[in-house]
Amino acid sequence: MAARIIDGKKVAEEIRTEIRAGTSALASKGIVPGLAVIIVGEDPASISYVTGKERACSENGLRSFEHRLPDSVSQAELLATIRACNVDPDVHGVLVQLPLPEHINEHAVMAAIDPDKDVDGFTPVNVGRLVLDHPCYLPCTPAGVVELIKRSGVETSGRRAVIVGRSNIVGKPLMNLLVRRDLNATVTVCHTGTRDLASHTREADILIACAGRAGLIDGTMIKSGACVIDVGVNRVEDHRSARGFRLVGDVDYASALEVSGWITPVPGGVGPMTITMLLANTLRAARAVCGEA
Ligand code: GUN
Repeated sequence: MAARIIDGKKVAEEIRTEIRAGTSALASKGIVPGLAVIIVGEDPASISYVTGKERACSENGLRSFEHRLPDSVSQAELLATIRACNVDPDVHGVLVQLPLPEHINEHAVMAAIDPDKDVDGFTPVNVGRLVLDHPCYLPCTPAGVVELIKRSGVETSGRRAVIVGRSNIVGKPLMNLLVRRDLNATVTVCHTGTRDLASHTREADILIACAGRAGLIDGTMIKSGACVIDVGVNRVEDHRSARGFRLVGDVDYASALEVSGWITPVPGGVGPMTITMLLANTLRAARAVCGEA
């Protein structure tokens, strides 16, 4: 079977075109959606994500406000920065880049973000809204995964979805999204405690790999014709690459391609969707402020 490759870059660009139409409509009313990005420390991966988020803002008619705090910042200072963003009328979305240094309590930090500016969907209030099926900001990677599935025309209602990974950022929110009545899937969540992983993954009409382990899923573990969404981004050594590594997903792409019906590549699948959904959430937050939501 020839798998259809889900082109995340193309879908992300379609959505960014919609977002630019939204930001220019707001601009004519004098409103520029604003995203505050708070980063603590010098972790190169976090800096690179944050730079990507800021570039995406400026390319799509949003404004970003960067707050770079040193590794040594106290929790009180970080909370004060968040509170200042919460009350700043030019800021519609607030994002604190994770991970945070060990001396900072991540739960307290997330809880300090105004839920109506929580465009990452990480605050306890938004997590509760998601579980209760109330309107909320969806976490960006799970929202991007759902958007890829929907826009590829993959049926979810009545189908079996198997999620491999139970993180708070991806696995758990996806579980809650896929069981909602609008998507209506039957969901299984697998994790490091799961016995005989393959017996679960082979049942999946929709298989979502978000465990963070290179090559965890191969073609023998996939049902013929399944939709395979690979959220993993793992560095593996590669001496032929100038960087000394290359990025691979949790799925062994070559063997999965042989059996699946749809598949996302890494890179170029889920990755481009995450920042796009962040822009969409920030636009929505700005619209809400001017009574357009
Ligand atoms: N670190 C890794 N992914 C994310 C994300 O989606 N949002 C934030 N705030 N931090 C992250």
